[in-house]
Amino acid sequence: MFSRQVTKNTSVLARGFASSARANRKVAVLGAAGGIGQPLSLLLKSDSLVTGLSLYDIRGAPGVAADVSHVNTNSEVKGYEKDDLKDALTGAEVIIIPAGVPRKPGMTRDDLFNTNASIVRDLAEAVAEYAPKASIGIISNPVNSTVPIFAEVLKKKGVFDEKKLFGITTLDVVRASRFLGEIKKADPKDVKVTVVGGHSGVTIVPLLSQTAHGKGVDGETYKALVNRIQFGGDEVVKAKAGTGSATLSMAYAGARFTNSLIRALNGETGVVEPTFVKSPLYESEGVEYFASNVELGTEGVKKINPVGELTAEEQELLKACLPDLAKNIKKGVEFVNSA
Ligand code: NAI
Repeated sequence: MFSRQVTKNTSVLARGFASSARANRKVAVLGAAGGIGQPLSLLLKSDSLVTGLSLYDIRGAPGVAADVSHVNTNSEVKGYEKDDLKDALTGAEVIIIPAGVPRKPGMTRDDLFNTNASIVRDLAEAVAEYAPKASIGIISNPVNSTVPIFAEVLKKKGVFDEKKLFGITTLDVVRASRFLGEIKKADPKDVKVTVVGGHSGVTIVPLLSQTAHGKGVDGETYKALVNRIQFGGDEVVKAKAGTGSATLSMAYAGARFTNSLIRALNGETGVVEPTFVKSPLYESEGVEYFASNVELGTEGVKKINPVGELTAEEQELLKACLPDLAKNIKKGVEFVNSA
C-alpha cells in the first residue's frame, strides 16, 4: 500500500543504512481491538518496515493478534489484554494509541474528553514506565487535549521528549486531498493540501492557496470545501448512525503516519508529515501545541515547518483556530495538574 515509500526506503538501505534493516521497529497498538485498532493492526502487519507488532486492548486483542498473525509477512505479532500492559510495551519503539470511545451523532470531539482523558492519562503512565524512549502517536480524541495530557504525564515522570510525541492529524490531510481532488476531477495522489492547527472543527485550518489545485477555488465552493474538511468526520459519524466514527480511513491515515515515522527513524531523509506537536510557532499566543508540516528524522521531530504565506481568508481561519486550540490544550494540561 505504501509501496512508494517502501521502495524509497529500500534505496536508502542500499545507500548504506543497512544496519537499520535489522533495527527493532516493534510497534505497539493500544486499543488494538477497536474499530480503528483492528484495520490499523492489519495495515501495520502488511508494512514490511514493521518488525514486530504488539497488540494491546482491555479486551479482545489476543483474538485480533491471532487473526492478523496469519498474514504471511515477516513481523511477529503478539496480543495482550487486561493487565498485560507492561509486556505489551516492553521493547516497543513506536506506540500508536487509538484507545478510547468514539463520537456518536451530535457529539463534538470535546464531548469525549471526560472518558478519554483518563484512558490516555493511564496509558501515558504505563508508557513512561515501560517504554520511555518510544515515539508515540496519539489518535484518541480530542487530540487537541489528549496530546497535552500525555505530555504532562511524561513530564511528571521526567521522561518527556517533545521530539517523540505526535498527535495524528493525517486524516485531515487525506480528506482534504480527496475532497479537493473531487472538485478538480484530479487524482488525489497529485493533490497535496497542507492542513495546520489542531484536529477538531474550526481548529482544522486547510491552506488551499498553497496547492496548485486549490488556488482557483473561491466563493461558495471555497467555503463549502473548507467546511467539509473541518467537519468531514461528521459525515461518517452521521452515516454510521450511532455505531461509531471514522475507523477505516483513520486506520489508513494512521498506517501512513507510522510508515513515515519508521522510514525517518531508519535514516530516510526528507520525510514530511503533518502532525500535532509541541511547537514554537504560536507559543507566544498561548498555543503550545500546533499541527503543521513536520520533517521527521532519526530522533523524531527534526524540523517544524512554519505555515508559510496565507491569504486573507486563511488568516481569518487561523484567527478562529488559535483561541479554541489554546482552550483545548489548557483543558488537557489542567486535567493532569489539578488531579
Ligand atoms: P472503538 O470504541 O471502536 O475502539 C476503542 C478501543 O479502545 C476498544 O477496543 C476499547 O476496548 C479500547 N480501550 C478502551 N480503554 C482502553 C484502555 N484503557 N487501554 C487499551 N484499550 C482501551 O473506537 P474507535 O472508533 O476505534 O476510535 C478510537 C478513538 O479514535 C476515539 O477516541 C475516536 O474519537 C478517535 N479517532 C481519532 C481520529 C483522528 O483523526 N485522530 C479519527 C477517528 C477517530
